[in-house]
Amino acid sequence: MAAALILAVTLTAVAVAALVVRRSLVARLEGVLSRLAPEPVDTAEIPDARSALQAVLAALESRAEAGAEQLAEARASMSRSAGAIEAIPQGVVICDESGREMFRNQAAVAYVRGRHGEAVVEQAVQEQFHAVEGGEPQRRTLEIYGPPRRVLVLSAFPLGDGERVGGAVVVVDDVSERRRLEAIRRDFVANISHELKTPVGALGLLADTIAAENDAAVVRRLAERMTGEAFRVGRIIDDLLDLSRIEAEESATRASVPVHVVVTEAIERVRPLAQARGISLDSDEVLRSHTVNGDQRQLVSAVANLLDNACKYSDGGSTVEVRSWDDGDFVEIEVRDHGIGIPGRDLERVFERFYRVDRARSRETGGTGLGLAIVRHVATNHEGDVRVASREGDGSVFTLRLLAGSRPATNGLTGTSRRKFRAEMS
Ligand SMILES: Nc1ncnc2c1ncn2[C@@H]1O[C@H](COP(=O)(O)OP(=O)(O)OP(=O)(O)O)[C@@H](O)[C@H]1O
Ligand SMILES: [Mg+2]
Repeated sequence: MAAALILAVTLTAVAVAALVVRRSLVARLEGVLSRLAPEPVDTAEIPDARSALQAVLAALESRAEAGAEQLAEARASMSRSAGAIEAIPQGVVICDESGREMFRNQAAVAYVRGRHGEAVVEQAVQEQFHAVEGGEPQRRTLEIYGPPRRVLVLSAFPLGDGERVGGAVVVVDDVSERRRLEAIRRDFVANISHELKTPVGALGLLADTIAAENDAAVVRRLAERMTGEAFRVGRIIDDLLDLSRIEAEESATRASVPVHVVVTEAIERVRPLAQARGISLDSDEVLRSHTVNGDQRQLVSAVANLLDNACKYSDGGSTVEVRSWDDGDFVEIEVRDHGIGIPGRDLERVFERFYRVDRARSRETGGTGLGLAIVRHVATNHEGDVRVASREGDGSVFTLRLLAGSRPATNGLTGTSRRKFRAEMS
């Protein structure tokens, strides 16, 4: 009897203990569930530990699925960002808060692998990482004296959540070309202003003098000088328009243009000058079979500028010769004069805008110093080049090298004889 009582009490105690354990398990599972489940859970609807466990498992599964999706999205977004950073031309280096490098795009890889100049950039990048530790963005301009001479702007930005610095990014921007173009533009504007100021100033003075002059002969002489100065302003503006048009047409329109057509048109343009100076133009050695691949208007402008110079910088009575050669891939057009020539020290510079060997003489001849800049631009637009050989007192040879166009003739016939041939056939 006593034994039965003890057994009953023990069983009851075990049952109570099991109930307590299950309740606390259910309570814990409910707690976990309320944290995991995406929506609030009504715990009254969970009758026992088994249901609670199932609900927790279901919540875990849905979390795991959502987590996997988020991870995939995060990976895709990271690879998009990395791809974008890779695509930009600036160098980008990213470090974590301990200064450990986390990312470096291809443009910035050059700094660690490169030679002296690049090593200087890499050192500056590391210094920027230190500089930004205080949490403030930093900017620094680095000049590398080269060659080639380069100007780089290094910008460093702290990364983080606004309160804590979580690393930094350094961006290296090579602004050399931009700076060079800005300097050219500045010089260009200064030069134009200077070039225009002189004739415009002269026009003002001449007009004042005329206003106070009664002598008809003097007035006529002054008026002629005014015409000359006005003509000079017009020429400068024409040259500038020509140059800016040719510069704007970055790549010339292409067609097969016969060289003799270009040369004939260019000669027509300079004929009045040549006649006025008694200079004969000889283009017998420009072969009709030679063609170049390019824009006729630009090509005529280039050859006319070379002929204009050849006439302007030669003594009256001399001869200017134009020839052409074709080596299959390229055609060369040569303009040779027997004039004053160009000193060796100026040869490199004559193609610069506004550069003139002898300013005083150029004023006499009305030159602005834009002609050869136009010629060089035309050559560049045609993937060709222009070179000069000259000796002071002996004369100059300018050679324009251009891509050959398609050959106009079969059987080696010239343009004229081919036309005759067709006429005979028809
Ligand atoms: N055939 C040449 N013989 C001697 N000097 C030349 C010859 N061609 C050019 N030069 C020199 O080079 C300079 C630059 O030539 P460019 O044609 O650019 O300018 P310009 O003839 O002075 O003016 P523009 O052509 O604008 O009217 C000239 O001022 C001249 O000093
Ligand atoms: Mg000229």
